[in-house]
Amino acid sequence: MSDARAEKEWTRAQSVPAQSLEHLFKAEPDRLSRLTVEEAGIYFDFSKTHLSREILDAFGALAEIQGLAGARDALFSGQLVNVTEGRAAEHSAERGQGAAQSVQRAQEFHSRMRSLVDAIEAGVFGEIRHILHVGIGGSALGPDFLVDALGRDAGRYDVAVVSNVDGAALEEAVSRFDPQTTLLLIASKTFTTSETMLNARSALTWMEEGGVADPYGRVVAMTASPETAIEFGVDETRILPFSESVGGRYSLWSSIGLPVALALGWDGFETMLEGASGMDRHFRLQPIERNAPVLAAFVDRYYANVRKAETRAVFAYDERLRLLPSYLQQLEMESNGKSVTIEGKPVGRASAQITWGGVGTDAQHAVFQLLHQGTHLVPVEFVAAIEPEHGLDFAHHRQLLINCFAQGAALMAGKQSDDPARSYSGDRPSTSILLDRVDPGALGALIAFYEHRTFVNAVLLGINPFDQFGVELGKEIAGSIDAGGEVRFDASTRALISRALGETE
Ligand code: F6P
Repeated sequence: MSDARAEKEWTRAQSVPAQSLEHLFKAEPDRLSRLTVEEAGIYFDFSKTHLSREILDAFGALAEIQGLAGARDALFSGQLVNVTEGRAAEHSAERGQGAAQSVQRAQEFHSRMRSLVDAIEAGVFGEIRHILHVGIGGSALGPDFLVDALGRDAGRYDVAVVSNVDGAALEEAVSRFDPQTTLLLIASKTFTTSETMLNARSALTWMEEGGVADPYGRVVAMTASPETAIEFGVDETRILPFSESVGGRYSLWSSIGLPVALALGWDGFETMLEGASGMDRHFRLQPIERNAPVLAAFVDRYYANVRKAETRAVFAYDERLRLLPSYLQQLEMESNGKSVTIEGKPVGRASAQITWGGVGTDAQHAVFQLLHQGTHLVPVEFVAAIEPEHGLDFAHHRQLLINCFAQGAALMAGKQSDDPARSYSGDRPSTSILLDRVDPGALGALIAFYEHRTFVNAVLLGINPFDQFGVELGKEIAGSIDAGGEVRFDASTRALISRALGETE
């Protein structure tokens, strides 16, 4: 890697004169075909972004200087890409793409997981109708998103994912459950996360108070630390391990995905893995200019670092995908919200954009005013599906899609008026991601696309996307407050503790 050579390409990208989207469409007649990519039942359209040929050249050169191809090989071959934690990042091995040994290990873990799914379905735990999954961050967001998106109609189990330590969350979830027919899943890579441990204990108490003779006998643990789960009281036969080298926010492919496998059935879970595997192959094999995760990362870097956009917004024009923005917030911001490079030097430019978003068409009546006329530049991403899920009149889906496409067109075209309050500047960028349908294969591919895009962003910035030390200090201080410890807090914090908890130092 050469800092000076990379800087030259950043400067080159910055010095490309800004051209409007309208101009780019006129000047580049092949723009639509060049900047659209189709893979695994997903159509990606980057044409309504300011990626010009010059920008693509500069970022292509930057990718080469930053060693993207080598970094990608290192990722897939199980090298220690997570240097600060001395680990590989082997989430793709979970879907059959990676070092042979890691793939084999993942398959062994999956077959153990499958046997447990079969046992649950065969009634080994008695009649199970409710699945209570406790976990937080990467141990909750992926399963929650997928079960919410795909498990609604599966009708196999009623699944609740509880993450927040606020007791109101657990109380609400169990209010609709019968403890006698509930299976408790404890999902935690480390099996030490305080929120999850407390929620798990309270769930066990709820089962006990509900007359379950052996609540621990109804627990399944998904973890990379089986010995800690055993210490907690989970029987070894009901522990589904996964590899330490699978990061928390990349773990839904591992046993952390158990509620997905239960909600969709094993075939559905496998189809999801296959969809992701297809996107892995696309990322590995396609040249830069046809590679969806790479092009998406170029879009991110262009707006974050050339146009200085601080945020990016994702709108799911599909109710089934309503949890996508929350899922992406952790993936993108926990991965790339860093200030230093892999070498420990200041990164020197904006890293992760702030990811936010919502659901269309609701968001049109809430936040789109700012997108169309506000002073912030916000690259927007629309995610929609051609096929609806509901049985109502197709008019609903037609309206939904028409609105989605109209918003992208309006952001780009704008409209002039003599009245400044009624003028739209236009030239506002958007990306469209159109799925043939929302099914396990397509969502597997979509999530893998986002994972790889996050990785490419990190490579371009020279940072490690696989650690998350930024979350530790707050945990440490909470631990000190909890222990009534030695740490002397500031006057403001002391007053808050004293006022709310009646505790003084
Ligand atoms: O707080 C951050 C974090 O470490 C995430 O990266 C992780 O997904 C989450 O906590 C939960 O951790 P665990 O799975 O170990 O309970």
